[in-house]
Parts: sequence; C-alpha cells; structure tokens
Amino acid sequence: MKQTYRMGVIGLGEGRSIMSAALQSERWELKQVCDLNEELCRQREREFGFPHWTTSYEQMLDSDEIDVIAIYTPDQLHFTHIVQAIRAGKHVICTKPVLPSLDDAAKLLAFMNESDRKLFIGQSTRYFEPMLRQRSDFEAGKHGELSVVEAHYITDGRWFLDKGWSRQQGFSWFYGFMIHAVDLVRWYLPDVSEVSGYALTSANTRAFGLEAWDSLRFTARNEAGQIATLAGDYALPTLGQHAQSQIGCVLRGTEGVSRAEYSNLVYYTNFAEEGPKVHSLHDRESYYFRFENRSHHAGEYQNYIEHFADCLDRGETPLPDAAEAVRTLALMEAMTRSVKRGGQPVRLAEVVADYGL
Ligand SMILES: NC(=O)c1ccc[n+]([C@@H]2O[C@H](COP(=O)([O-])OP(=O)(O)OC[C@H]3O[C@@H](n4cnc5c(N)ncnc54)[C@H](O)[C@@H]3O)[C@@H](O)[C@H]2O)c1
Repeated sequence: MKQTYRMGVIGLGEGRSIMSAALQSERWELKQVCDLNEELCRQREREFGFPHWTTSYEQMLDSDEIDVIAIYTPDQLHFTHIVQAIRAGKHVICTKPVLPSLDDAAKLLAFMNESDRKLFIGQSTRYFEPMLRQRSDFEAGKHGELSVVEAHYITDGRWFLDKGWSRQQGFSWFYGFMIHAVDLVRWYLPDVSEVSGYALTSANTRAFGLEAWDSLRFTARNEAGQIATLAGDYALPTLGQHAQSQIGCVLRGTEGVSRAEYSNLVYYTNFAEEGPKVHSLHDRESYYFRFENRSHHAGEYQNYIEHFADCLDRGETPLPDAAEAVRTLALMEAMTRSVKRGGQPVRLAEVVADYGL
C-alpha cells in the first residue's frame, strides 16, 4: 500500500528544489525546513508560503512528526548531518557527494550496517528525463552487448566559487561536479576495475586562489573489457548548450547507440530496425525547471523522492545507497591516484584494500 512520508529539509540553497518536489507530491508531506541563515528561511517562506522553518537542526531532529531528513548542506558537513539524523531514527536522503573524499567512508558503511534506517544518495542526473529513457532502453536490451560508455560533465562553474564553502578544505570540482559523470559510468558499468587519466588546474581556477583540478580526462574498463571515457571541464568557457550539453551519456552497443543529455531535454537513439531518432522531450521543461534561469532541476528531485517513497513502501533501499555511493567515491580515488602517478592505470581493488572498504 502506498504510504505518505513526512519530510524535513536541511540546507535551503539546493534544498529549494526538494521543497518544491515535496510540496507537489502526493507521497510526501513537507513538515519543516532548516537553515542557519534566517533570511534564507524567510525567503523560502515567502516563495513557497511555507512557514515551518527553524535555524536549529537539533530541534528538527527532535520532532517525532518527521520520518525522513533530506540533507543539502555543504559537502563537508554531510557525514555529521547523516549520523545525527540516523541516530534520531530518521531515514535520510543526502545530496551528492555523500562524502567529499573516502576518509569517513568505512565509518559511514559500518554505521549504516548497524542501522535499519535507509540512506539514499540523490544522484540527480540519473533522474533526468533523457537519462531515464536511456536507462529503460538499456534494460530492455536495445543496445545489444554494451561496448563503450562515454560520459561528460562540462560547464563553466566559476560562479560556484562565490560560495564561501567552496574555498574550504574538502571542496573540489572533481567530487562536487564530475561525480555526476562518474556515477553515470558506474550505473552502466558497476564493476569498473581500472582507470587512468590526466587532470590539471587551469589559471582560471588559480585566479580564485584555489588549487583544484578543473580539466580532467579519463578512460576506465571492467574485467569483461568494456570501456568508459569520462571528461570534465569546470573553469573554462564552453560552447554553450546548443553545441554541447553540460552532461552527456552515450551508450554504444552491438545493436545500437543512444545519447542522453542534460540540461537539453533531448534523447538521441539509433537502434536496429528503428533507425536514427531524435526524441524531443521539451514538453517536460516546466516539470524539470521550475525556477529562474533553469538554475535548479526540481523535476529530478520529484522523481527521486517518489522512487524513494516506493522503496520505503516495499522495505527496499533505493540506489545509490551508501555502499554504491562509496564505490563511486572509490573509483574517484583511483582516478585521483592515476593523475598523481602521471596517468598510470590504477586498480580499484588497491583503493578498496587501502581504505578497508
Ligand atoms: N545536482 C545536484 O544534485 C546538486 C546541485 C547543486 C548542489 N548540490 C549539493 O547540495 C549541497 C548544497 O549546495 P548548495 O549549492 O545549495 O550550497 P549553498 O551554500 O547555497 O547552501 C547550503 C546551505 O546550507 C546551510 N547550512 C550550512 N550548515 C548548516 C547547518 N549546520 N544547519 C543548517 N543549515 C546549514 C547554509 O546556510 C546554506 O544556506 C552540496 O552538497 C552540493 O554538492 C547538489
């Protein structure tokens, strides 16, 4: 039977999207929201006509009217906020990246193993319309045997460096941005076992006083020999959406090929017998993009909270869960090591062993 779940949200920047999603959902009741910034709480109150806010996370966790906490605080705070919520008996939705490195990963896995609560990581791109269509075609076997996955996330993200926490230890373009492309690769090749690549910090990132790779290229493969390429640029001018989507995922198989794009609502396919097709999904524009300048993508959050509710109904843990998200971070650590070793291939098993995962 379908139940209704009660949600509390912490962090009202990106948390704005999940507020919108919960308020429009028949499966969710938004109970309370929280941010240290009182003015932002008031802004969200005016925007959504939703007056139930607090600046105290502890006070929100004390409420027995909340089943699920949704966490949209800076990356460096996720571990602490997850542990507090689970200890308070709540299920958790945490935005990506669940952690900004593998440092607390073993602790997080051990902690979650001892709990019956669910932790779901909001890898939003999986829930964009073209990506969902591509996944469904993949599961229907339309690509035949998969040979290659090509994923990129390329955007000029310099605006992001205006956020204070992007200058604090723990921020990286890699974990904050490129994780979307890495997650897409692992969605199709969950058993990626080896990776190699190069990365650099451009003068454009250095101009902000930051040392963080902003241009990155990798190749990866699994034991079966299937190949992936991953690309990211974050502080360089781009061609613009009309010429290259910010995020793209291409699947090439023996029977066909597909390309899903974000934030273009377009999906391209060429499957045996169907021939080349362009699927325009623009009628979904207002569902996915609810605020000014397409700057947020609330429809993805709508899709994932409804999926989470279905999983809670069935007692299932939605994916990516803690284990899957940590595996993605382990691939990212292997990518980091490869760059530091001048592009040498690095095996995931090495990272998994080093971190006791
Ligand atoms: N596609 C996506 O899924 C996506 C997109 C953007 C951001 N994010 C993630 O969302 C998170 C937040 O990013 P953002 O861009 O909204 O940052 P932001 O700085 O705009 O917002 C973070 C908010 O958290 C609040 N906060 C910090 N500590 C708090 C505490 N202890 N209690 C209550 N509130 C607290 C801050 O006041 C701030 O308003 C990050 O983890 C980021 O990676 C995900």
